[in-house]
Amino acid sequence: MKPKILVYMRVDDRVINELEKDFQVTTFSNHEYLGDKTFEQALKEADGIIGLALNITKELLDAAPNLKIVCNVSVGYDNLDLKELSKRKIMATNTPGVLNETTADAIFGLLLATARRIPELDHIVKTGQWNISLQPEQYGIDVHHKTLGIIGMGSIGSAIAQRAHYGFGMNILYHNRSQNKEAEEKYQATYCELDKLLEQSDFVCLMVPATKETVKIMGAEQFKQMKNSAIFINGSRGKNVDEEALYYALINGDIHAAGIDVFTEEPTPKDNPLLQLRNIVTLPHIGSSTTECEYNMSKLAAENLVKGLRGGKPPCLLNEIDS
Ligand code: GLV
Repeated sequence: MKPKILVYMRVDDRVINELEKDFQVTTFSNHEYLGDKTFEQALKEADGIIGLALNITKELLDAAPNLKIVCNVSVGYDNLDLKELSKRKIMATNTPGVLNETTADAIFGLLLATARRIPELDHIVKTGQWNISLQPEQYGIDVHHKTLGIIGMGSIGSAIAQRAHYGFGMNILYHNRSQNKEAEEKYQATYCELDKLLEQSDFVCLMVPATKETVKIMGAEQFKQMKNSAIFINGSRGKNVDEEALYYALINGDIHAAGIDVFTEEPTPKDNPLLQLRNIVTLPHIGSSTTECEYNMSKLAAENLVKGLRGGKPPCLLNEIDS
């Protein structure tokens, strides 16, 4: 009998077709399925799970007694309880590397869109309000040659620094768990403490993974430390930011504007007060969402899955499993 796989969200159809040759695949297109009978049946029988952002909790694992591997189609893995997975000898994998350049494009694009107010001005043109010349209140701010502070200089942070340095002549400050010598040499990035980065940057770009240490790393105090003229960009995880504090920072003028790709709750509720503000540009968590990149991530996640279920070590294994 073919091993059984539960596919739960954002796995490329071509990859699913390939998997179907060797596995019995049950597909779900969304992940709000706990309590759903079909989902629970698939979970009960699953040898492997592949997909995006399903919260792998103890409760879910209790309902999946055959599970051997969980393969995220994402680099982030804050949805996985790694300790619990290891305890149960279940492998966990992610998809690092293949999304670095694509995500850096998106996050740098968000920075440009926020600084130059692109969505707001697009709306003015499309709604026929371009009847007089642009007013000074509608001007954007320069990006080139300004100071960019990157919190989290991992591979995606470095790809953002590359764009900022070579493309826009920006001065780069960064804060990270450890110093990144390569970014210092290649992009002339300067390591500094968080306080100093917040005080000196014209753009603050948050790129850290979500961990216990980073939850609400940006709160009221941090926004107050930023320049009133500065722009905050979040390309990491919503839970790394205190959204209420961001709202007040934006309405009180502690910071000039924000661009965010991620929210505390996703999809964010329609009545999130942030959505009412003029000085915020929002995206629906699309850092890696291009046709090419989504395919490459699905493919890498499937490679992890196949390797793991065939008794090998998946290339992107996140946890130690004693056999
Ligand atoms: C996207 O947010 C990812 O973690 O891959």
